[in-house]
Amino acid sequence: MVSVGVNCLGRSFANPVVLASGPAGFGLELKPFFLRRPLGALTTKTITREPRSGNPPPRLVDAPAGALNSIGLANPGLEAFLADVLPEIRELSTVRIVSFAASDPSEAEVMAGRLGEASGVDLLEVNLSCPNVEGRPPACERGTAWEMVRAASDATSVPLLAKLAPDVSDVVEIAEGVLEAGASGLTLINAVRGLRINRDTGRPALARRWGGLSGAAILPVALAKVFQVREAFPEVPIVGTGGVTELGSLLEMLMAGADLVGLGLGVMADPEVPWKLAQELEAWLSRRDIDDCSEIIGCAHRGGLGVGETR
Ligand code: SIN
Repeated sequence: MVSVGVNCLGRSFANPVVLASGPAGFGLELKPFFLRRPLGALTTKTITREPRSGNPPPRLVDAPAGALNSIGLANPGLEAFLADVLPEIRELSTVRIVSFAASDPSEAEVMAGRLGEASGVDLLEVNLSCPNVEGRPPACERGTAWEMVRAASDATSVPLLAKLAPDVSDVVEIAEGVLEAGASGLTLINAVRGLRINRDTGRPALARRWGGLSGAAILPVALAKVFQVREAFPEVPIVGTGGVTELGSLLEMLMAGADLVGLGLGVMADPEVPWKLAQELEAWLSRRDIDDCSEIIGCAHRGGLGVGETR
């Protein structure tokens, strides 16, 4: 019998597959799949203190092996989330990760405090890296990221993931800062800043010009960041997110050092893909006579499959 369960962040995950924040919204349309088979975790769309309608259209264009989005954190706001959405999410039997963003440390404190005391919130993820809002994302500067995470982690006892940006020269430096500030784990990575031009108009295709690239195109970038951070912090829980769309890329993400793997854009093409991949992972481990998923997590740092100790 193969074990695909993962224990980290003080929680038990049925398998390492996680719905990443964004494409699945609040996961409520996927309820029939949750009822049928277990999934590691659901991450909500990012919540902000006030409701946001998001950026003007067009805010989604395709890209080679991916898509460029400029959603702009559209969400109903903290109070509506707590009153109307969270009670429904509570019904889903999975680990519930609530993603939130804040414009400054005092807002981060309020958000983490309110969300952390609400029933049904198993973990928090502070989104420090949305590429689609005004200003530089907090994750691009160690001091700013540190202040946001310190304020949030001081306000709650719920374990806090910090979602970092790929568009930095040294992700390990930022990771070190947020861990020092109290993050319990890291989500790596957010979408990569990109641009497309509309060839008919000759202007940027997205209304706000820049967007965040996601999908298979960013897999090598995400793997590099996960690998680097795992090497620097062997014990820190990592949710590897970026470009995972099929079993091969899921395996690579685990082998690079992710304890959990977030699926984003792939869910828009096939909403059942997370559940399919969880099953395919189990079958793959069984075919290889690997009893426990933990044997492949981070194996790229230990000389490869079947070599050295498990985590
Ligand atoms: C968005 O809402 O613009 C995407 C969220 C993110 O990339 O953090």
